[in-house]
Amino acid sequence: MAEVLKLEQIRKSYNVGTAVETEVLHGIDLAMQSGDFLALMGPSGSGKSTLLNIIGLLDRPTSGLLAIDGVDTATLGDAALTQLRGQTIGFIFQYHYLISAFTACENVMMPMLVDKGHPDAEMRARAEQLLDRVGLSRWRDNNATNMSGGQQQRVAIARALAMDPDLVLADEPTGNLDTKSADAVFELMRQINRERGTTFLIVTHNDDLAKRCDRIVTVVDGRVA
Ligand SMILES: Nc1ncnc2c1ncn2[C@@H]1O[C@H](COP(=O)(O)OP(=O)(O)OP(=O)(O)O)[C@@H](O)[C@H]1O
Ligand SMILES: [Mg+2]
Repeated sequence: MAEVLKLEQIRKSYNVGTAVETEVLHGIDLAMQSGDFLALMGPSGSGKSTLLNIIGLLDRPTSGLLAIDGVDTATLGDAALTQLRGQTIGFIFQYHYLISAFTACENVMMPMLVDKGHPDAEMRARAEQLLDRVGLSRWRDNNATNMSGGQQQRVAIARALAMDPDLVLADEPTGNLDTKSADAVFELMRQINRERGTTFLIVTHNDDLAKRCDRIVTVVDGRVA
């Protein structure tokens, strides 16, 4: 099985070189194979979001190895990192960050638009397919803000899948939802994982949902417990 993600001794310090320099990740090791569905847990402030930002190539580690699909990211410049991120990683956040002036369909098209630079008919067709997959066909031309929290999060899932990523990173994707919507959103990610073999790394504080993942990794004080 292909190794989608490999972390070796990842460290991260904030405010490097100043009087308030603090190390928040103290040497994280983690490997994920294609198709893994993993819950990342741990107390508030333990470093989960910091770790997710590093894995998502939004921030660089202070030291250590981070390989995505076998590529050592330390060897890449900013443009190459952006390209790798766009083509291999999808993001889902606690707050969906949909663009309120756009329809559901346009929001799902966004990553494709960013990648290609101009819209085309194929993009819309793909966005419609994805919205269909998350059960929102009827809502595709609705303004994103006129939808319920659970629906908005399903749009965010469709958007995360737009570029057919190998790895989806979700930071408390159900943290803002009622129990029933949280369950539906979680189950949708699980189904997509099974159908497409997409690898998922999900930060959650919800024990019940974490137990339904293949694996739980717990971070405490910047270390894997
Ligand atoms: N940009 C930053 N500058 C300085 N310190 C930061 C920064 N971002 C996070 N931290 C610190 O790093 C530590 C880890 O924060 P992080 O957001 O990764 O925790 P978390 O596990 O995601 O917590 P939560 O469950 O509350 O979301 C915290 O002590 C936090 O204050
Ligand atoms: Mg966090």
